[in-house]
Amino acid sequence: MLAEMSLAEKVGQMNQVNASDSEIDDHLRQAIAAGRVGSVLNQVDVDTVNELQRIAVQESRLGIPLLVGRDVIHGFKTVMPIPLGQAATWNPEIVREGARVAALEAAKAGINWTFAPMIDISRDPRWGRIAESLGEDPYLASELGAAMVQGFQGERLADKGTIAATAKHFAGYGAAESGRDYATTNIPENELRNVYLRPFKAAVDAGVVSLMAAFSDLDGIPATGNEFLMRQVLRDEWGFAGFVVSDWDSVRQLQIHGLTENDKESVYQALTAGVDMEMAGQSYLHHVEDLVKEGRIDVGIIDAMVANILRAKFGLGLFEDAYTNPAALPAIANKHALETSRVAALQSIVLLKNDHGVLPLSAEKLDSVAIIGPLADAPYEQLGTWIFDGDPELSITPMHAIHSLVGHDIDVRYLRAMENSRSKASPTFDEAVAIAGDSDVVLLFLGEESILSGEAHSRADINLPGDQAELVRRVRETGKPVVAIIQAGRPLTLTNIVDDVDAILFAWHPGTMGGPAIADLLFGVESPSGKLPVSFPRMVGQVPIYYNQKNTGKPPSPDTVVHIDDIDARAPQLSFGMTAFHLDAGYTPLYAFGHGLSYAEFSYDNIKVSAPEIDLGDTVTISAELTNNGDVAAVEIAQLYVRDLVGNVTRPVRELKGFKRVRLDPGQTVTVEFRLHTDDLAFYGRDMLLMTEPGQFHAWIGGSSETELRTQFRIIDSS
Ligand code: BGC
Repeated sequence: MLAEMSLAEKVGQMNQVNASDSEIDDHLRQAIAAGRVGSVLNQVDVDTVNELQRIAVQESRLGIPLLVGRDVIHGFKTVMPIPLGQAATWNPEIVREGARVAALEAAKAGINWTFAPMIDISRDPRWGRIAESLGEDPYLASELGAAMVQGFQGERLADKGTIAATAKHFAGYGAAESGRDYATTNIPENELRNVYLRPFKAAVDAGVVSLMAAFSDLDGIPATGNEFLMRQVLRDEWGFAGFVVSDWDSVRQLQIHGLTENDKESVYQALTAGVDMEMAGQSYLHHVEDLVKEGRIDVGIIDAMVANILRAKFGLGLFEDAYTNPAALPAIANKHALETSRVAALQSIVLLKNDHGVLPLSAEKLDSVAIIGPLADAPYEQLGTWIFDGDPELSITPMHAIHSLVGHDIDVRYLRAMENSRSKASPTFDEAVAIAGDSDVVLLFLGEESILSGEAHSRADINLPGDQAELVRRVRETGKPVVAIIQAGRPLTLTNIVDDVDAILFAWHPGTMGGPAIADLLFGVESPSGKLPVSFPRMVGQVPIYYNQKNTGKPPSPDTVVHIDDIDARAPQLSFGMTAFHLDAGYTPLYAFGHGLSYAEFSYDNIKVSAPEIDLGDTVTISAELTNNGDVAAVEIAQLYVRDLVGNVTRPVRELKGFKRVRLDPGQTVTVEFRLHTDDLAFYGRDMLLMTEPGQFHAWIGGSSETELRTQFRIIDSS
């Protein structure tokens, strides 16, 4: 095919054009017919998409079909929990199924390519796009990101109902300074390789069709012009055979970054770096041919890029059939889609706190319940960010779900109390207090509206917005049990309310079926099983705070920490401290990575290692006994952490290396086993090569990253 293409047609393949309704005109149709468009995005009317495909296939000289892109991030019409919530399921199967449902619905609209998963590691809850991420941990994000890729792409990409996935944003975008979206990132190469690039490698290994270059500046070279990332790492080291798309107009932004003087030089940099397709900017269309004619860009480079794009089109089966017959695909929001959304929501919700077993509620023991807050009945808000096509009419809100679950048995009162999550205190707070005081238990639906997270929606203060904390305090004064159900697009700092509530269910933005999931958890139909995929700071000043940190030369411990209020002015300064902590926040998060309570009570004992010493290339098994000491059956997510005690570069104090979902009946004990190959312990060292170093390792098994149940083993090199 390449041999038959003119240079202008090749450049056309590298050009992606916005085709949202307002952009569909004769000009676009003519450009497609002229072979000047390789891909469109943002058109979701299936008849229009089929018409654009028809022009490409029948009217263009070579009949090359279009890639039709769309941000299908966590669902199409049926919305799954935000990706950060999905990460809290620690369940690759449900994540895969969620993506599969999304693909089927999107494919019905003619979409054949999504810009997901976003697998940017983020250690900064201020960053609005943390909502779209899979959290702070490279292992968890790798496992779940790969599952999402598989869900979108199915077993055979050419099957109807599958769509190509995009791993984004390559790379480092989640490390934006101060969590301000689009801001600069500075990530040393060793950290980049050991943390930020790992999920991308996993996505490539899972067969992801495309990668998207990030908007951000990485150590002085914006990602879209970064040859190291896209040629050395992606192509030479990883052997990626798919294609790279820029982010929206990010080629031309190279000039705004200050890397180039004009669009033509930006195109030169992006081509040199390896951006195969330009999204939206159309500067490739205007400058690639000149650069080739001037001899600055070898046509062989262009051919390789176009081949990358065409390969995706062949892989998708578009040359056999570019058209969509919506009737041949399952109905939108069918039973399975809604059930997947419900199960994903159920598994994503994290019980952060549950004092004296206030949860689960028992409808038999209650006469009345008060539902108060701006997010109890907010069908749009519960869907979260990035839901271009999500349908709020499908949403079942917690208020409705609670009504249908227990409304026949108990008196359910509802008061929104705040117009939205940012509202200030108002006289409705008095009404809230009155209803609360008159009810047996208070369910406070707090959090963030969806607009407070997502792209370009970062926050510097991550407390509950508006006067929600004041509402909590007022309701608390009634003396009634108070349960906070928090929906948000990021970890929030909850220090100022945590002591004023008895329980906290953290529900992220749970999606279409968030309401039934929340109701079932509140009333004990199911036990919570979600675990945090990201640390919750006590105060925003602790950020970045993440569990897999380095030890430092002065690691803190409880006995070295002094709180600012306890400093005795007369004591010599050196009588405490000299370790790595904050005087006003200590060094631990409020809730640690991996944390999440259950209605059962789990305990771990008897950790064992299969051999105290193994050779490089061998496998070790680490196991522990897990018991359900509670009186309900429930799922626990058992986690394995490892520490490599000595390395030629310093190693994290703990790293997640395995996890398992286990369902246990009351009184049941099971042995959870994790097999680790010495390759699983490999890291990039001083010379930036991936290797496993012999030496001593600690291993922990438990229900969070704070587990103390430890064993150890040694790796030797007997060769
Ligand atoms: C975002 C991408 C997204 C693209 C297309 C950009 O602003 O950064 O993640 O895929 O828009 O909508």
